[in-house]
Amino acid sequence: MDRIISKTDAVIVGSGLAGLMAALQLSKKMNVIVVTKTSLGAGNSEKAQGGIAAAVSKGDNFFLHMKDTLNAGSKFNNQHSVKALLEQSPLVMNELIRLNVPFDKAENGEFHRTREGAHSLRRIFHAGGDATGSNIMKHLKEAVKHQVKIKEHLLIHDVILQGSKSIGVVGKDKEGKVHEIYAPLTILAAGGCGELYSVTSNSKESTGDGVAIAFRAGARIIDMEFIQFHPTMLLTTGETPCLVSEAVRGEGGILVNQEHEPIMEGIHPQKDLAPRSVVAKAVHDEWQKGNKVFLSINRIPHFTKRFPTIAAACKKNSINPAEGMLPVRPGAHFMMGGVAVNEYGETTIPGLFAIGETACTGMHGANRLASNSLLEGAAMALLLADKLSRPSFNASENQAERLDDIEVEVNLPSRIEIQQMMDQYCGIIKNKEELTKLKDWLADYFDVIRAPASHSFSAEGTIIINMLTAAWMITNACLLRTESRGAHLREDFHKEDDSWSSREIVWQGRQMKPIVKEKEYSYESITG
Ligand code: SIN
Repeated sequence: MDRIISKTDAVIVGSGLAGLMAALQLSKKMNVIVVTKTSLGAGNSEKAQGGIAAAVSKGDNFFLHMKDTLNAGSKFNNQHSVKALLEQSPLVMNELIRLNVPFDKAENGEFHRTREGAHSLRRIFHAGGDATGSNIMKHLKEAVKHQVKIKEHLLIHDVILQGSKSIGVVGKDKEGKVHEIYAPLTILAAGGCGELYSVTSNSKESTGDGVAIAFRAGARIIDMEFIQFHPTMLLTTGETPCLVSEAVRGEGGILVNQEHEPIMEGIHPQKDLAPRSVVAKAVHDEWQKGNKVFLSINRIPHFTKRFPTIAAACKKNSINPAEGMLPVRPGAHFMMGGVAVNEYGETTIPGLFAIGETACTGMHGANRLASNSLLEGAAMALLLADKLSRPSFNASENQAERLDDIEVEVNLPSRIEIQQMMDQYCGIIKNKEELTKLKDWLADYFDVIRAPASHSFSAEGTIIINMLTAAWMITNACLLRTESRGAHLREDFHKEDDSWSSREIVWQGRQMKPIVKEKEYSYESITG
């Protein structure tokens, strides 16, 4: 098969906030190629509404932000990562302001800050009302365009290894041509896996590609049982799901049932602004009781102006915000687990890095604090770029370990089938019986999950394998963790169990079974 070969210093897989911020910084000192499976910037960052949390204003401080992050994360967080990444907040904000991201201002000319669940005060910066992600991405795309080489519509399926070291990536473009990109530094920034579920705030691109690629390379992956559901997705009939930002509750929105009774009363002292996992469960419980849930927005002045993205989605779905009641239900939102890394994105494979949602620094613990994800993605990108220097050697095709293309005879399921299985057996509330059914179903695809992705698969085939791989890790980890903690809720083990507080579920060396380990957070620096 003909191969198109490129060489560079650093290749970045994914073009969301983390990927493009890393590209922008690294391109100041080395050659960078950004590869993206659809178009530049398409993904979850673009869709981010609420904003970016940063304790940089008067009256706020780093320790308060840290405390909120740990409380939301059920204290399962890696405190070292939390500290290291939150410390980057001023630099991240300066960089975004330098890029001319038009953060919204209040009448007094200061930046307006909103509040979201589990934050003890207003510290969320936003742009274009609820269009924070698209504003950030617009400016980032503009900035990288002239500085890095961009390859769009190229689906990377594997890391190229030389022994235990990463020397680049391989994938296929939309015409089916194979591309090998050799680079001493490979950075996975391919987002999360919300597309595993039928109702999600995520973009269609979020199919677990980053974790699946890292799994096949043998990297360590942790905490996959912690999948966050957002409490408020707009209940639509059509194909246009839309998040209703937590900032709506931060500005006074209240969750009520069809009788207009507030549903968060008596459930948590922070009521509608309780940690996301608590609110998502409460909304889910109402639905289970046969009730409907609405977000009452009567107390929010100028709703349409403050939340134009949500207002536009309402219009598209014939919901009138002026009536004051937005129908909502929970949807899959964020993967707290991922490729195990330190704050610089170093994985267990030399030369391979992971940042953003693909990575797990442990910052979010068992449940991410609202608007900490854009911050984490940008902070990791800055730290990584600061740490790396231009490699003093090249990577080339002569060094690559060639794997035979394995022909695997299997009828792959469709996305919809995977989503139906995940919805049914691995939703917000889980139990052993249902997870076991899902595990047995996934086991039929063992051979493709464990094999290196083959050139013989179509793009959709590779994506399906990535989804199955992420689903396999999530399902098994959910089965193993016999407790409820943060976003991981088991009805058969409904309490937190102290014996699990220091244990993590680890995938490594392409093993199909995870191991349970005492947490360890010290990684040896592999970049020197
Ligand atoms: C939201 O706007 O509610 C989502 C923000 C986030 O996930 O951090």
